[in-house]
Amino acid sequence: MKNEILRMLKNSKDEFLSGEKISDEFGVTRSAIWKNMNSLKELGYDIESVPRKGYRIIYSPDILTYEEIESGLNTEYIGRQVFYFDTISSTNIKAKEIALEEPEGTVVISEEQTGGIGRLGRTWVSPKKKGIWMSIILKPEVEPMKVSKIALVGAAAVNRALSDIGIKSGIKWPNDIVIDGKKVCGILTEMSCELNMINYVVMGIGINVNLDNVDIPDDLQYKATSLKIVENKEINRKRLLASILNHFEQLYKDFKDDGNITKVLQICRDNSVLLGEEVRIIRGKDLRIGKALDLNDEGQLIVQFENGTVENIFSGEVSVRGINGYI
Ligand code: BTN
Repeated sequence: MKNEILRMLKNSKDEFLSGEKISDEFGVTRSAIWKNMNSLKELGYDIESVPRKGYRIIYSPDILTYEEIESGLNTEYIGRQVFYFDTISSTNIKAKEIALEEPEGTVVISEEQTGGIGRLGRTWVSPKKKGIWMSIILKPEVEPMKVSKIALVGAAAVNRALSDIGIKSGIKWPNDIVIDGKKVCGILTEMSCELNMINYVVMGIGINVNLDNVDIPDDLQYKATSLKIVENKEINRKRLLASILNHFEQLYKDFKDDGNITKVLQICRDNSVLLGEEVRIIRGKDLRIGKALDLNDEGQLIVQFENGTVENIFSGEVSVRGINGYI
């Protein structure tokens, strides 16, 4: 009921909403309303209450609940169900626990992760209210082999959403978003499948939004940054989150229909920080140097190695680096 009252308060904008109207709507006592107002205040809402006039919201907190992003969403199903946590070990772990029961498009989001997971067994630093740490549950009806393309859909959606708020970012294949040569976003895609059927895919997206330099561990300073650091101002997390989900649904539609990612590939090519550059392809202990030529229609990176051979690189198990550093 707390959320329904919140929605009513939000709908009445600057006008006071009378206690009478709320009790008529939900058939509850004044004291029940009072209790709900208090739990909203605990979440950080500043609610003015004036005798004989009612209640109105003075301030909404910077939290990533469904109620706070709803007004910015124009999706049909992506982000229409949100599991919101103040703290959790990893949104990917939670999303995998609930994926079979929950509908496609469900998002797990947490203000903080205490055990955030990165690609290739790394950890992911996820301080409270400083980023967007979320996992989207997907159920595409495509062959499991095609699923690695989904990571590119996520990267393209983040790139477009950043562009909408005036931030130019690069895509470091397969799924890092970089600005000024440093990473601001990583994507971890995990899948559960049968022989030729996908049960679910969990796409974990981590965006360093309002981290300060002190939030970034020393050993990551050379390769990680945040939107706040590069833009020199706080970034509105709610607006950015809603916009990513909006772009994601649009780009994911084509993929879901028939595995087609033409638009996504165009975005990834146009904004790539690797194409045309010398790269190091690292697979476990094996390191090879080559030139990144293009992305093929499957979303694989086409690399020409020093001995002249050209190979399509599958994103699964490799890490790609620039010749001297991160990119
Ligand atoms: C990478 O290594 O680049 C991938 C990082 C993915 C981090 C996100 S944050 C939300 C989701 N939950 C996790 O534990 N990891 C992903």
